[in-house]
Amino acid sequence: MLDLVIQNGQVVTADGSFAADIGIAGGRIVTLGLGLDAPQKIDAAGKLVLPGGVDSHCHIEQLSAAGIMNADTFESATRSAALGGTTTVISFAAQHVGMRLKTVVDDYAALARKGALVDYAFHLIMAEPRPDVLDEDLPELAALGHASIKMFLTYDKIRLEDAQALAVLAAARRHGMMVCIHAENHGMIQWLANKLVERGYTHPKYHAVSHPRLGEAEAIDRAAAMSLLLDQPVMIFHVSTVEGLAAVRRARAAGAKLWAETCTHYLVLTKADLDRPGGEGAKWICSPPLRDAADQEALWQALADGTLQTVSSDHAPYAADASGKYMAGPEPGFKQVPNGMPGLAFRLPILWDQMVNHGHGSPEAFVRLACTEPARLYGLDDRKGSITIGKDADLLIWDPARAVTLTAALAGDNTGYTPFEGMTVKGWPTTVLRRGEVIVAGSEVRASPGSGRFLARQGGPAAQPTGRLAPELDPTQNFGAELLESQAADVPK
Ligand code: URP
Ligand code: ZN
Ligand code: ZN
Repeated sequence: MLDLVIQNGQVVTADGSFAADIGIAGGRIVTLGLGLDAPQKIDAAGKLVLPGGVDSHCHIEQLSAAGIMNADTFESATRSAALGGTTTVISFAAQHVGMRLKTVVDDYAALARKGALVDYAFHLIMAEPRPDVLDEDLPELAALGHASIKMFLTYDKIRLEDAQALAVLAAARRHGMMVCIHAENHGMIQWLANKLVERGYTHPKYHAVSHPRLGEAEAIDRAAAMSLLLDQPVMIFHVSTVEGLAAVRRARAAGAKLWAETCTHYLVLTKADLDRPGGEGAKWICSPPLRDAADQEALWQALADGTLQTVSSDHAPYAADASGKYMAGPEPGFKQVPNGMPGLAFRLPILWDQMVNHGHGSPEAFVRLACTEPARLYGLDDRKGSITIGKDADLLIWDPARAVTLTAALAGDNTGYTPFEGMTVKGWPTTVLRRGEVIVAGSEVRASPGSGRFLARQGGPAAQPTGRLAPELDPTQNFGAELLESQAADVPK
């Protein structure tokens, strides 16, 4: 017996599109066919039906490296996500030096339980991989359904030295977890930023100068070498440059199991936004910084040829006032501005418009990059990311003809601005369902705070080692298994 049927829509999956009704029972998709009936019906005639978006990189209610609080709570961020068609988020539980990771995760989980309107999981940020964290907290957290870690190769206070990064990779390997990496060369950023400030070059536009393109490439090369040494899969977050893409391709050619994402803003904005009068450009400060039109073209090509797997928002919301972007005054130096921009609400509409209406890809490719691949890479594909029988009924009734001009008010987050202000996109989610329940109808959000669920996961195949260790660690010749204390089946004892 069905609870609900979505009738007469054109279903879009990563593999193809077809006319079908979608039968839903108990919050799941239980049948696809024609002429289905149920007590509750939604007519999707003339519309597309897409899977709910999976945003695998967003910062929510998080304390930054510099100790600054995000503008968004789980409630405001996930309300904004839902309005734009994102029904699953992976945000962060951020350890800072001195903290126990287990306690950190408990704290973030309590905030999400109280506020989240969409389903969620956490990447665990490792700022201090001490033995108690790696040997006591991590096994416990893995058993509770946490399956990914983020580590930073830059940012004062939370960045890891290479030896620490290796310790994290080895620990992740023991638990089959994915390791996501913020890959920029810290020394290059520090040296350039200090020189710029010393000489009085503090306008927001110099932020882009202080994060050199080569710094991204170098850090990706280094992350790849560490991944190869320990045979631990990694995900390179927010790739922004031609040089970074070349490093991703080099890593794969060398045999690394390395995945890579880019973010909405790198595809449609450039560093020209930083070069606005006075302190205005502070709103566009994020790291890595916005780049050039040539990088945008290269990123689109990389999405098309498989170099990049996913597009996330990297929603990192700081209010455009004295509590956030302008905490150092109305014309802050670039070093005084919290890094990050809001983007949860508009990721899907912008990506759709760019791909389908501006020739960068098909509806199917859009679904792959925004829904299916993020679910698969992070171990959520048993429930999320596609319209197939057995999956959660996280569905969007998508109007490909609806044109919308993006504004801060429409985004509905707490920052008070959108970096995409005034952009007009065509394609919009008119109805959003989460586990079979309508959570957005038009501009009305119906889900209650706390109705989002924690998604316990295990690292999926994308996070499993290849079995090809570096020669120095090859267990057939040396003592690799001992050094790695690996429980991975592919490493002989
Ligand atoms: O500028 C950004 N993206 N801030 C958020 C932290 C990060 O590195 O992802
Ligand atoms: Zn990052
Ligand atoms: Zn981020």
